[in-house]
Amino acid sequence: MKPAERLEVPDTGRLNAALCAALDRLDPQVVIESGTYLGTGTTRALLRALGARRPRRFVTIEVSASLLRQARTNLADAPWIECVWGMSVRREEAIEFVKNDPFLRELDPNIDIFVDFLPDPAAGYLAELQGGLGGESSSDAPDGLLEQLLPLHAEDRPLVALDSAGGVGYLEFRETVRLLGENPYGLFLDDINHVKHYRSKLHIEADPAFTVVDTSWDEGWMVALANLR
Ligand SMILES: C[S@@+](CC[C@H](N)C(=O)[O-])C[C@H]1O[C@@H](n2cnc3c(N)ncnc32)[C@H](O)[C@@H]1O
Repeated sequence: MKPAERLEVPDTGRLNAALCAALDRLDPQVVIESGTYLGTGTTRALLRALGARRPRRFVTIEVSASLLRQARTNLADAPWIECVWGMSVRREEAIEFVKNDPFLRELDPNIDIFVDFLPDPAAGYLAELQGGLGGESSSDAPDGLLEQLLPLHAEDRPLVALDSAGGVGYLEFRETVRLLGENPYGLFLDDINHVKHYRSKLHIEADPAFTVVDTSWDEGWMVALANLR
């Protein structure tokens, strides 16, 4: 276990190639992202890979109103991206998840992943959720947005990018798998070498419904397709 360092996904040619390959195979009509931050990391990587392609919708969700304002400015060249204020999952469910997550309570020191708030990550992630994620005003943010958006677009071959808070990454992943079921979809995960998506990565590698397009442990990302043979 080691303290987490970076927020933005690294901008590399290998990630761009993986996203382009996934877009070619999936041909998504919709892109849905959780964890916009400044709009300059995963959102920009997706935009670059899309190139001239224009999905019907590109929704990016950010719980912090002030970060979302900055992201809108940073994404002014792509005004068709819907920057939505809110929480991906239900707040109460996220709190229960972090409170009861055995992985956080009994951290295995032999697993070489990044974790925030050491030595008590569960307390830190809980305080984050209870104290208003991302700063001011986020405790009033609408929640459960994946639950609204994913069923609406389940048949649109959605590409789903998950990169929000460390404590709820795996909950977001499980929600995505549950809500999209057997429909074809793509996943772009950032922070697979972090508590955020380490278990999501293990799930994808073990589940025959998924095909990994490419993944980089050092860069921390995975691009995969589900239910596409
Ligand atoms: C690691 S940063 C995202 C980095 C960004 N994807 C990039 O590559 O630049 C996580 C962001 O998710 C936001 N966030 C945390 N929990 C969230 C949730 N449940 N729903 C939506 N946004 C969330 C935080 O406010 C923060 O801006």
